[in-house]
Amino acid sequence: MILREVKIQFREYSGVEELPEAWAGLVSEARKVSGLAYSPYSGFRVGAAVLLANGTVITGNNQENAAYPSGLCAERTAIFYANANFPDIPVTALAISAASAKGRVKEPVKPCGSCRQVILETEARFGQPVILILDGRNGIQVFDGIDDLLPFSFKPVALKG
Ligand code: THU
Repeated sequence: MILREVKIQFREYSGVEELPEAWAGLVSEARKVSGLAYSPYSGFRVGAAVLLANGTVITGNNQENAAYPSGLCAERTAIFYANANFPDIPVTALAISAASAKGRVKEPVKPCGSCRQVILETEARFGQPVILILDGRNGIQVFDGIDDLLPFSFKPVALKG
C-alpha cells in the first residue's frame, strides 16, 4: 500500500482593495448582478461574472423554478451564455458573489459540483485554466484553476480510454 497525498492551493485576499484591478472589477460585477437573481424559493442570491480573453465581461445569476431542478446556478447561466455567444474566445476568469437574507455571505461560496464540472469542460475546451475568484466578507479566495477545487475529476480525455 502506498499513501498518496494531493496538494491543492488557493490565495486569500483581505478584500477587493488588495486584489489586482481586473479581478476587483470582476468581483464588483458579480456583486452587482447577484442583486438581480431570480431566487424566490431559496432567497439566496448568487452573481457570477466571467472574463473573456478579449476583455468582454459576461454576467449571470441564479434562476430558480417552482419545479426546483429546472433552475440553474449563476455560474452556469454566465458560462453557458459566454460559450454560446463567444464560442472561440477563451474564458480566463470567473468571479462569484453570493448574498443570503443577512447580506453578502461571510465565507466565500464555492461552486456546486455540477458547476465545477462545467468549469472543467470550459478549461478543457479552451486549453487554459479559469481563475476562480470567490467573494466573501471574511476575504476573497482565488483559485488558479478548477483542479484546486475539483481534484480527481472526470475529464474529456478519459473518454479516450
Ligand atoms: N447557487 C448558485 O447559483 N451557485 C452556487 O455556487 C451555489 C448555489 C444557487 C442555486 C439555488 O438557486 C440557490 O443558490 C440555493 O442553492
